[in-house]
Amino acid sequence: MAYRSIFLILFLIYLFKNPCYSETDTLHQGQELKDWDELISSNKVFSLKLFSIGSMVSLYLGVFYCKNEIRNSQSHSYQTQASDEFSNNEFSNNAVWVANRNNPIPDIYGKLIIDFNGKLSILSGGGTVLDLFSPTRLVARNATVTLLNTGNLVLRELHPNGSVMQDLWQSFDHPTDTLLPGMKLGINLKTGHNWSLTAWRNDELPAKGLFTLDLIGTGQMVVLRQGNIHWISGTWKNSRFENTNLLVSGPDVRLHYVSNETEQSFTYLTRTYDSYPALRMHQDGQLKASSLNLNIFCLPNNDPPGCAEDIFKKSKCRKGNFTDSSIIGSGERCYSYLDEYIYDDSYNFYDCLRICWSNCSCVAFATRRKRVGCKTFSKMVYDPNCTDRADESRPFYTITNHEG
Ligand SMILES: *[C@@H]1O[C@H](CO)[C@@H](O)[C@H](O)[C@H]1NC(C)=O
Ligand SMILES: *[C@@H]1O[C@H](CO)[C@@H](O)[C@H](O)[C@H]1NC(C)=O
Ligand SMILES: *[C@@H]1O[C@H](CO)[C@@H](O)[C@H](O)[C@H]1NC(C)=O
Ligand SMILES: *[C@@H]1O[C@H](CO)[C@@H](O)[C@H](O)[C@H]1NC(C)=O
Ligand SMILES: *[C@@H]1O[C@H](CO)[C@@H](O)[C@H](O)[C@H]1NC(C)=O
Ligand SMILES: *[C@@H]1O[C@H](CO)[C@@H](O)[C@H](O)[C@H]1NC(C)=O
Ligand SMILES: *[C@@H]1O[C@H](CO)[C@@H](O)[C@H](O)[C@H]1NC(C)=O
Repeated sequence: MAYRSIFLILFLIYLFKNPCYSETDTLHQGQELKDWDELISSNKVFSLKLFSIGSMVSLYLGVFYCKNEIRNSQSHSYQTQASDEFSNNEFSNNAVWVANRNNPIPDIYGKLIIDFNGKLSILSGGGTVLDLFSPTRLVARNATVTLLNTGNLVLRELHPNGSVMQDLWQSFDHPTDTLLPGMKLGINLKTGHNWSLTAWRNDELPAKGLFTLDLIGTGQMVVLRQGNIHWISGTWKNSRFENTNLLVSGPDVRLHYVSNETEQSFTYLTRTYDSYPALRMHQDGQLKASSLNLNIFCLPNNDPPGCAEDIFKKSKCRKGNFTDSSIIGSGERCYSYLDEYIYDDSYNFYDCLRICWSNCSCVAFATRRKRVGCKTFSKMVYDPNCTDRADESRPFYTITNHEG
């Protein structure tokens, strides 16, 4: 615990110091990116840094949108009003790329290095956590890693005179849950490498979650839930995916769809980064976007192609269709929930909602805030003596329209 407190204090010091200024967008061989070091793209839109989530000690390496005051000003003054506005935007606050989503650094001694063979690695106090790029032959290479103005982190091999010989690796080939302007969704037909987005497990766990966004061979966007189709768009036609609200290019956004011998891909470009453009695959199966008009939530009233699962319609014991208002969040105080059934870490909010909705004996479910996994309950007992006792640590969701 003392360990965590120290970390928290250090983090607070960090917040007050606000060092989102950096002289460089490039890490050279033999240098380390550690502690509160950052690479800032030369347009000051993106930063690469180590971060932790909530009260967890584990560190991740990620790319973020820089705050407005860094973007708009070359001076080192700190403007608090801009940061309030900033904190309201989920696309500006969350990492747009996580290098080590499945391999958290277990201590506070994380660092990014390039060794003299051109190997790009994330280390902890105890050794290698993850090699992002390993050269196939061990030859001495002059390499640097640069955070480009697009938010793409690129490992490059240099000629002795400093000019670029070739790109060895880039973060845009390994998306997390977010498609930035210029990133591709689809497949490289030459290498077989595909670009897809996979949601976080939950708000505090960047590890691969349940939902994946792919572009498939027929030119349709597909959201897969553990490999099964959850939602599917129409095909690309007349500059849009049919049966979606994804509109044709406007003055500030351009959509590109490519289907040629080397690749099949979808990408988009924006005129500016002012509105923190991003398309994100959410942990609950929603696609959310800023700058792009594509927000998808799988509800039964979507026309096909669209939501492929009609589980929310089928249940005989629920009145009507599923809507958001069928769930009462945060638990009704003064009820106790009994006859619990526990689901392990491979289940999240969305799974428990489905399970509970389609099982007539289920009256409520609960998720765990810090971890995944959940519980369903088949009995709800009113406690006449209760005084307000909200259990904020474990949100309950009661399903209404229950007749059985
Ligand atoms: C740097 O070296 C490479 C390979 O030797 C050469 O092709 C390139 O033109 C050189 N660039 C400059 C700016 O001298
Ligand atoms: C690597 O490139 C830099 C220029 O960017 C040059 O100064 C340095 O000598 C090179 N190192 C090797 C080992 O070629
Ligand atoms: C992309 O790769 C994943 C895993 O390698 C695979 O399951 C999926 O089918 C691929 N998608 C396409 C469109 O090839
Ligand atoms: C296919 O499209 C990509 C992206 O526009 C382009 O880089 C590539 O050269 C194209 N390939 C062919 C064979 O035209
Ligand atoms: C449920 O959804 C179906 C299909 O969208 C619709 O036909 C039906 O009227 C809805 N029922 C209710 C009670 O809203
Ligand atoms: C429905 O929930 C009850 C209580 O948790 C459980 O005993 C039962 O097995 C569930 N039924 C199905 C079909 O999963
Ligand atoms: C509620 O309070 C009454 C009187 O204080 C007590 O007799 C009763 O056992 C309590 N009921 C429960 C469920 O705790």
